[in-house]
Amino acid sequence: MKKSLFVALAMTVSLGAPVVAGTPADCMSCHDSTDAEYPLLGARLGNEVSGHATLGNSRYANATGCQRCHTNEGYVEYVKMGFDNIKYDLWANSKNADGTNAKDASGKSVPVPYISYPSQPGCFTCHDPHRRGDFTLRTQTVDPKTAAVSNQQITLYDKTVFDGGSGNLCASCHQARGNIQTSTAALKGMISPRGTSHHGPEADMLVGANGYEFAGMKYFSSPHYSFVDNTCIGCHMVQPAARYGFSPEIGGHAFTVVGDVHEVELGNVANCIDCHKDIKTVAAKKYINTTITALKNTVYFTIKAKKDYDGNGKVEFVQQEVQGLLDRLVNVGGTGVMQKMANPMFKPDGSFITSKTAYTEAQLGAYANLMYVIEDKSLGVHNTVYTIELLMDSIKAIDPAYDTANRP
Ligand code: HEC
Ligand code: HEC
Ligand code: HEC
Ligand code: HEC
Ligand code: HEC
Ligand code: HEC
Repeated sequence: MKKSLFVALAMTVSLGAPVVAGTPADCMSCHDSTDAEYPLLGARLGNEVSGHATLGNSRYANATGCQRCHTNEGYVEYVKMGFDNIKYDLWANSKNADGTNAKDASGKSVPVPYISYPSQPGCFTCHDPHRRGDFTLRTQTVDPKTAAVSNQQITLYDKTVFDGGSGNLCASCHQARGNIQTSTAALKGMISPRGTSHHGPEADMLVGANGYEFAGMKYFSSPHYSFVDNTCIGCHMVQPAARYGFSPEIGGHAFTVVGDVHEVELGNVANCIDCHKDIKTVAAKKYINTTITALKNTVYFTIKAKKDYDGNGKVEFVQQEVQGLLDRLVNVGGTGVMQKMANPMFKPDGSFITSKTAYTEAQLGAYANLMYVIEDKSLGVHNTVYTIELLMDSIKAIDPAYDTANRP
């Protein structure tokens, strides 16, 4: 062990890599098998079962802008560009600021950057321990005089600034890939199955922005963005207490709030309980409303909604109400308003219809919100009020007779 570290050290020094002071003792603050200061092995155990390591999309999503979120190497380039989405996208697509194709000095088109050996987000994506000598985040800077840590703010595609402490790291990747309002307008009536939110618009949702907001309506937010310390990290990285704390699938470097313990899904309430007394989780099956999203076994958190939002006559848990609203748009029984409308967007079985019909912008906005809420994957926990407002307004945009008296 020591011998190979010395070899690596010699390599590090000869390559001229800066900062880690370069004595074996410094290396040992992390690599010592007896007195290490940092829990490297435990962090690795969690990370190995995390979506970052297991879902596998870094293998192909490594060009035309995908690589900044899906690969370690792309993210490092994005960091070097100061976390500037627009600048990165132009570079990644070989475009000039005016949208024309970039050319080199000899007039040849600049090829789209592509990573030959991409790797999934890992330790060195979020941290830079060999340069910094510690586990500060790529989004953090430390004032050399006062040692105060500051977090890089992230400007989302609709220009909303996300400033949620160390959660800014997560927000730098878990954000919608465009401005939903303007890109819905740009569709000029034609539906695009994918939508703009892409797969992880959690930062936008938490802060309460970038949904398709209907003309004349007012939108509000639940307080998680401002109340939870370090936002994403405050809920997703807290480790559960006691027995099922031994599962690396929950909290910490698995980055999950819900995970598998002895083949049963459990929700981690260690994070919620400070603010929500008596909160528990109960088993659930979610996202079965449409074949555009996969069925998932998971849990509901036991927070009762303030009203019967989905109109089924019962006041249920918040996540059940949100599921009920999604079902009102589209479901596998064929009764959703997006299935019953003239020129339906979905077939009775819940599968998407590739339609040549021109829709109104409001109808397309409703579709964009459906995708946005599904892809957020929290069923309203991130931002209950904003989620419910967007969904109720979306149902009304498709079915003007829909009663929105319980809208928050
Ligand atoms: C602040 C903590 C920290 C310090 C200090 C540190 N390392 Fe590391 N090192 C890491 C982490 C984290 C990994 C990745 C571990 C993993 O993949 O589980 C790593 C991995 C390595 C590896 C494996 C190769 C690789 O890139 O994954 C080598 C070799 C290594 N370190 C050498 C050194 C040497 C030599 C020093 C001293 C000059 C040093 N490290 C100091 C945190 C540190
Ligand atoms: C702004 C960051 C970002 C960019 C850019 C990005 N992605 Fe993603 N992508 C994510 C995140 C975050 C997730 C995981 C979301 C989740 O599971 O909640 C994801 C998930 C996915 C998934 C898995 C979907 C699923 O439901 O299993 C695929 C496939 C994917 N991305 C493909 C791509 C491709 C292809 C591109 C480029 C054309 C791309 N992504 C660009 C952030 C990004
Ligand atoms: C997706 C981003 C991400 C990845 C990947 C990641 N980390 Fe972290 N890590 C974090 C964040 C965020 C924190 C701060 C957590 C907190 O404040 O509670 C952290 C904290 C740590 C700490 C400090 C824990 C403590 O209590 O002092 C260690 C050690 C660590 N990470 C090691 C690793 C190792 C080793 C890997 C790779 C196996 C890794 N990390 C991969 C985001 C990441
Ligand atoms: C470098 C960009 C990046 C950063 C930083 C990042 N993620 Fe991710 N995350 C992704 C991508 C990309 C995926 C999807 C991976 C795939 O499909 O292969 C993902 C997947 C996930 C998943 C699994 C989702 C699922 O559908 O199962 C969770 C949970 C998650 N991330 C939480 C976090 C949290 C919490 C943070 C902050 C500590 C964070 N991520 C930081 C890019 C990132
Ligand atoms: C108030 C606590 C809380 C905060 C703050 C929070 N989340 Fe979540 N998040 C949840 C809960 C609860 C779920 C639902 C988990 C489930 O049912 O699998 C969730 C789901 C997710 C998922 C889907 C995970 C999966 O396995 O399907 C991702 C990805 C995610 N959150 C990322 C983030 C990011 C990024 C942030 C910050 C921008 C964030 N979350 C902030 C509580 C929170
Ligand atoms: C730092 C405190 C804090 C933490 C931690 C926290 N919450 Fe909250 N949460 C609040 C506050 C404050 C509200 C607003 C209460 C209200 O409007 O009734 C709220 C609202 C909610 C709501 C919406 C209630 C409604 O009817 O509008 C849900 C659902 C929720 N939280 C779930 C969770 C879950 C699940 C977790 C843990 C994963 C969590 N919260 C962690 C403070 C917190």
